[in-house]
Amino acid sequence: MKIAVLPGDGIGPEIVAQAVKVLKALNIGLGMEEAPIGGAGYEAAGDPLPDATLALAKAADAVLLGAVGDWKYDKLERHLRPERGLLRIRKELNLFANLRPAVLYPELASASTLKPEVVSGLDIMIVRELTGDIYFGQPRGISTLENGEREGINTMRYNESEIKRIGRVAFEIAMKRNRKVCSVDKANVLETTELWRQVMIELSKEYPQVELSHMYVDNAAMQLIRAPKQFDVMVTGNIFGDILSDEASMLTGSIGMLPSASLDANNKGMYEPSHGSAPDIAGKDVANPLATILSAAMMLRYTFNDEANAVRIEDAVKKALAQGYRTADIWTEGTNKVGCAAMGDAVVAAL
Ligand code: IPM
Ligand code: MG
Repeated sequence: MKIAVLPGDGIGPEIVAQAVKVLKALNIGLGMEEAPIGGAGYEAAGDPLPDATLALAKAADAVLLGAVGDWKYDKLERHLRPERGLLRIRKELNLFANLRPAVLYPELASASTLKPEVVSGLDIMIVRELTGDIYFGQPRGISTLENGEREGINTMRYNESEIKRIGRVAFEIAMKRNRKVCSVDKANVLETTELWRQVMIELSKEYPQVELSHMYVDNAAMQLIRAPKQFDVMVTGNIFGDILSDEASMLTGSIGMLPSASLDANNKGMYEPSHGSAPDIAGKDVANPLATILSAAMMLRYTFNDEANAVRIEDAVKKALAQGYRTADIWTEGTNKVGCAAMGDAVVAAL
């Protein structure tokens, strides 16, 4: 089993180091090789996704990624910016299914900005389509009109098969959970998502045991804050999923807790925290490594079919939290504030 390890930028290297430490502590013979991506890729090879990095990722069974991006690259041409490396690797590896579970650990109920009774017991799986939508649709760009004014264009588009395959992922996951899928769209305004809704309804006929509901994205954003426990699986397109998953993360106390898996049709996957590179706290040993460590658990579960070791990691995270270890983002009065590396050590010790 070979893992391509892509630490990336900002806090990426520190949080990935903790996940690697945890994976090594399992002692199950995982091969790991590192390569640069994002700003680090640009520094190393003038490309946010260097050829060698892409080749390594293609050859590996799974990819563990930190985060990409730093303000210092914001002035680069768009195709050289760190985010482009991330979007390209998702596309090149055909990782269309992005799973972002928002689970509240009981110990963190008071770390959420919402009332404990609203979030306690929360367990939502957000299924975000990751290789289509306005993120990739053509035409796109900034051009100058005849009157000299500039115009920006992006295109929201989905074809039927793209909608169907992500819908299938959501229904299959729901079958192993509470059998509820909420499809999020903006079908009252956008034709792209009107088609999305039609295809979800057609597909649901193959899953009579699953209860399908629909919600407009604005309402979904509101319901996530009002009564988040009504949701089991949410399935949505790329841009809505980007926004709603950040929102859902705060229900769990901190975006530093939210892992993710991005899968292709054969469960090859890339695993990364849902949060960004946080350049403001990079190198200070204060970042929360748990989202990355929990992403490593998802890797074992989805790509390596190793449920037992996935659960071992998740239990070790729970134990470290129960023992009172907290990084700054989830710290509350009376708990033990530790740095990124010490949190990794606590999880390893709990293993
Ligand atoms: C995410 C991030 C990325 C996205 C950025 C960094 C390109 O926000 O993974 O959610 O928008 O998909
Ligand atoms: Mg995002």
